[in-house]
Amino acid sequence: MNKRILLARRPEGQPTSADFRIEELPVPAPKEGELLLHILFLSLDPYMRGIMNSGKSYTPPVDIGEVMEGSTVAEVVESRHKDFTKGEIVLSYSGWQSYAISDGKNLRKLDPAAAPVSTALGVLGMPGFTAYAGLLNLGRPKPGETVVVAAASGAVGSAVGQIARIKGARAVGIAGGADKCAFVLKELGFDAAVDHHARDFAERLKEACPKGIDVYFENVGGHVWDAVFPLLNQFARTPVCRLIAQYNTRGPFLGPDRQPIDMNEVLTKRLTIRGFIVTDLGKQRPAFYAEMGQWVRDGQVRYREDIVEGLEKAPAAFIGLLQGHNFGKLLVRVANGAG
Ligand SMILES: NC(=O)c1ccc[n+]([C@@H]2O[C@H](COP(=O)([O-])OP(=O)(O)OC[C@H]3O[C@@H](n4cnc5c(N)ncnc54)[C@H](OP(=O)(O)O)[C@@H]3O)[C@@H](O)[C@H]2O)c1
Repeated sequence: MNKRILLARRPEGQPTSADFRIEELPVPAPKEGELLLHILFLSLDPYMRGIMNSGKSYTPPVDIGEVMEGSTVAEVVESRHKDFTKGEIVLSYSGWQSYAISDGKNLRKLDPAAAPVSTALGVLGMPGFTAYAGLLNLGRPKPGETVVVAAASGAVGSAVGQIARIKGARAVGIAGGADKCAFVLKELGFDAAVDHHARDFAERLKEACPKGIDVYFENVGGHVWDAVFPLLNQFARTPVCRLIAQYNTRGPFLGPDRQPIDMNEVLTKRLTIRGFIVTDLGKQRPAFYAEMGQWVRDGQVRYREDIVEGLEKAPAAFIGLLQGHNFGKLLVRVANGAG
């Protein structure tokens, strides 16, 4: 049977398990020119919160009653397509389900001998590419500069800090809790790590950045941004990747309007704050695969995966991601396969 997880209703604020519905249908059969994929890994990513909402965003919403969307690594179990054979492993966008039919478009064949296939959803996939392209194009770290990134133990943040260090910069990670901070410091080799749950977080961040901040890679927003902003140096660059702290709020935002204060700082410090969506930078994918692949093979870039077993656990794991419960790139192992 094909197990599928559907969007049951649009969440109000923090999603709950009632926003999802599981159903089972017979495994579909491929027609001529199609192939049947058996999903091995499903990637759970923060942007999925946005596609649960109605309304315009840079990614269209999932309709109620439709399968939740998402990137997957899958095994070809039956092929009626000339370019694919049974047993091949592919990167696909098949969503939260255990089987999918594909017409072969937008699939990327993976080589299990080159790297564990799950990395195509993490360090060697969209999150790793977001870190690479966002940091190098918009952050442009120089040797000796201080680069700060939040959600630093996660898929994007962990790569940002390690690439910053490869480029000769000082990497400061912000993460939630002592275990994540220890990992960022000891396993990933950042120069400093600061816990954003600490009561004196802003003070600790200031201590960790004695020469201020030259590049802030913005993943989070909220109270993390409030602590970072006064520490930005003249001509600092801030690639705005996304603001996970605000995913479950739809405004109006509480508190005094800080915009005049912040904009005055943008002016006087000549800051560059530039939003980006990873798809803007697609031309650099070949360079990313070559360079990041080498760094991962050399051990210069390390990664951690947080693998949840079984598709039915995807809703709870995704809800946890929005509360910082994941520790590393969050994946669901949907099935075991050749990959
Ligand atoms: N612009 C783009 O094209 C693009 C592409 C990919 C990803 N992104 C964005 O990049 C960011 C990181 O994504 P990821 O895939 O690497 O996720 P991740 O870091 O693996 O997981 C999300 C982490 O965010 C932190 N977090 C969650 N809720 C938070 C809150 N309310 N306040 C502060 N921190 C919170 C938690 O880490 P702690 O426990 O350490 O706080 C959590 O573990 C997300 O904002 C995502 O949307 C953007």
